[in-house]
Amino acid sequence: MKTEIYEVEPGEYNLQNYDERYSNFDWKEVEQAFSWHDTGQVNMAYECIDRHVENGRGDKVALYYKDASRNESYTFEEMMKKSNKAANVLKQTTNVAKGDRLFIFMPRSPELYFVLLGALKIGAIVGPLFEAFMEKAVKDRLENSEASIIVTTNSLVGRIPVDELPNLKHIVIVDDHVAENHIDFNKAFEGASDEFDIEWLDKEDGLILHYTSGSTGQPKGVLHVQYAMVQHYISGHYVLDLKEDDIYWCTADPGWVTGTSYGVFAPWLNGATNVIAGGRFSPEGWYSTIEEFKVTVWYSAPTAFRMLMGAGDELIKNYNLSSLRHVLSVGEPLNPEVIKWGYKVFGKRIHDTWWMTETGAHMIVNYPSMMIKSGSMGKPLPGVVAAIVDNEGNELPPNRMGNLALKEGWPSMMRDIWNNHPKYESYFLPGGWYISGDSAYMDEDGYFWFQGRVDDVIMTAGERVGPFEVESKLVEHPAVAEAGVIGKPDPIRGEIIKAFIALREGYEPTDELKEEIRVFVKNGLAAHAAPREIEFKDKLPKTRSGKIMRRVLKAWELDLPTGDLSSMED
Ligand code: WT7
Repeated sequence: MKTEIYEVEPGEYNLQNYDERYSNFDWKEVEQAFSWHDTGQVNMAYECIDRHVENGRGDKVALYYKDASRNESYTFEEMMKKSNKAANVLKQTTNVAKGDRLFIFMPRSPELYFVLLGALKIGAIVGPLFEAFMEKAVKDRLENSEASIIVTTNSLVGRIPVDELPNLKHIVIVDDHVAENHIDFNKAFEGASDEFDIEWLDKEDGLILHYTSGSTGQPKGVLHVQYAMVQHYISGHYVLDLKEDDIYWCTADPGWVTGTSYGVFAPWLNGATNVIAGGRFSPEGWYSTIEEFKVTVWYSAPTAFRMLMGAGDELIKNYNLSSLRHVLSVGEPLNPEVIKWGYKVFGKRIHDTWWMTETGAHMIVNYPSMMIKSGSMGKPLPGVVAAIVDNEGNELPPNRMGNLALKEGWPSMMRDIWNNHPKYESYFLPGGWYISGDSAYMDEDGYFWFQGRVDDVIMTAGERVGPFEVESKLVEHPAVAEAGVIGKPDPIRGEIIKAFIALREGYEPTDELKEEIRVFVKNGLAAHAAPREIEFKDKLPKTRSGKIMRRVLKAWELDLPTGDLSSMED
């Protein structure tokens, strides 16, 4: 579908004149929004919650939480007290200290947020794990980070291979009927004090560790620091356009970076009321969440919008969604037809935003006060310098496709890849350019246009999956000799995971075996990482050094020319 131009809708937006603001922007100025600017004492949880209580907004609702069995609300003062209690419980039962890696592996619940904020008040580095992770995914992350504490539930604790994790000292269970050898969070929580002495940190001290996938190797531990809050705050102000009376809903799980940067930090740094909905996706459930809480600002993903679109427009007529005033999207290309549909059914343009786990916060976005060119990711955040560069780091002129690159120096930039500094350094080219791994071009008006990933990373339903992780799991199956995994274009999910498999001697290529292998990955790694399609091959295309050539698999799949095959074995 062809690009459409959407003019700015009238409104009082936090960012009025983009060009002017961009040209005179200074991060130092944004720092003044924080108490540490005067006190020198930094703590993300304090800035998100306690500061608002001290500023007389303690009675305002900070959190509306809803799932199939719970519907609760908590004011900023209650959040302060609950997170203090959680901090006391964690400190007293596990002795967790500043800099320790504390993982959270549980489904969404209010307690998850008390624990997250409480752990931050102690100065721990929090590692959130998506609840769908199975044993191997959990083990790789805890092992790499040398985590000493994990907070989880009875239903998930069985996926933690305790015997293989020598650094893991404490398992805290947030549940009823806690086993003897585990720490009973709820019991300790009841009696805990609601006052806590916050651990004051340095701006460059650790905040959060999100694991994400690349095209090779194990998942990477992306480390973010306290100072990232400067960018969480200003992007919440300019891009989410949050104001004092907004009711904000980000649909992402805190196991992914969107669910922390924009599900926890940005909304609460801006003092907004945050809606968290637990449980699974359903169109009815989502629309009723917007209606029930009168959501004004809504942040979701293209896959979700496409699924809502698939559920039909008739359904929408059963709900009053008139509270919505600003809708945003992230994670994959936002199709122009989805924007068009959004305008038809919500009366709002969906605003695309581009960023990555590594960048920690928004980089290139559509502002509410900016004309939208549908299909474009928009323009850089004030303070962010973006360009298209060649493989040597030379800037390319407008309309030329190349590497989407960012000039280092923005506050929420990752500070390291945990236990793998060479990997961190490999992101940069001479001239201080951070290379995103995406290809794009910039048009003559300075709008950026996403073209694709440069590497083999798969984006399926907004989740980033590394083919290597899936291939490694596949070859653990006794029938699998070799496996190559690619992303195959899909109208709803963006891409689906397709695996090409060469079987070991003695195994028959049956449909039952396909299903067995699929379930093996689902139960061993994660449901979203399991291949939706499997194709058996006698042999896989490989380089002479034995690397599986995914680009050849992809070319086969899409009926494209295979390109240069000189490095392929006979
Ligand atoms: C990759 C990063 C932090 C956001 C959630 C995903 C793709 C992200 C867009 C967009 C096209 C996008 C890129 C990027 N991506 N936003 N608006 N348009 N592609 O974070 O898991 O670190 O993945 O997601 O390929 O490199 P992530």
